[in-house]
Amino acid sequence: QLQAIIAPSILSADLSSLADECQKLNDQGADWLHIDVMDGHFVPNFTFGQTVVKCLRKKVKGFFDCHLMISEPQKWVKDFHNAGADQYTFHYEAVENQEQLCKEIKETGMRVGIAIKPKTQIEDKLLQLIDSNLVDMVLIMTVEPGFGGQKFMQDMMQKVELLRRKYPKLDIQVDGGIVCENIDIVAKAGANVIVSGSGIVNHADPKKAMAFMKERVQF
Ligand code: DX5
Ligand code: ZN
Repeated sequence: QLQAIIAPSILSADLSSLADECQKLNDQGADWLHIDVMDGHFVPNFTFGQTVVKCLRKKVKGFFDCHLMISEPQKWVKDFHNAGADQYTFHYEAVENQEQLCKEIKETGMRVGIAIKPKTQIEDKLLQLIDSNLVDMVLIMTVEPGFGGQKFMQDMMQKVELLRRKYPKLDIQVDGGIVCENIDIVAKAGANVIVSGSGIVNHADPKKAMAFMKERVQF
């Protein structure tokens, strides 16, 4: 059974007190914590890696949804698993053999996510991976990955609609520029896993923002 999942991105939080910020988001109603890992190579920005995730894991409960915006994601599967990640979402564009990587992630017990950038189309190769039950979630990026606080790209809803038509039970995540004001657009297209960084963390009342989004994304 598909569920509405609200996953605030901790990228917009106060990174100097990350564990407290995570706990606060959990208390305010986060279903998952979305952890944006950037390597300064796949995307033009750096954030944090498995060492920080491991430290957070000691203090923070809940589901760690790791979004790997890195080159060579196949190199870090074990590290993130050991660090306590619950889901490993890699970028489709970053690897040649996605099938192999999906299998390696699955073997650790983590859930498998595949992310696609705005300019990447949904190819047959991706559909075949979903058909083979190797993918737990597809992340449709609604901004160019790299930074929080960018403008939502509504064109991307075509991809969400296409996937939702084909896969009524697939977790479909959207990430980038999502705020209370456009939540209805992504909900209507069929997304059920909502990432929002600035839209929640910078909201005057993050608890209210998450409750509002959750109510709008009904499955
Ligand atoms: C962008 C990241 C997003 C980002 C979302 O590359 O993948 O998760 O933190 O932030 P907002 O919601 O502010 O666009
Ligand atoms: Zn992200």
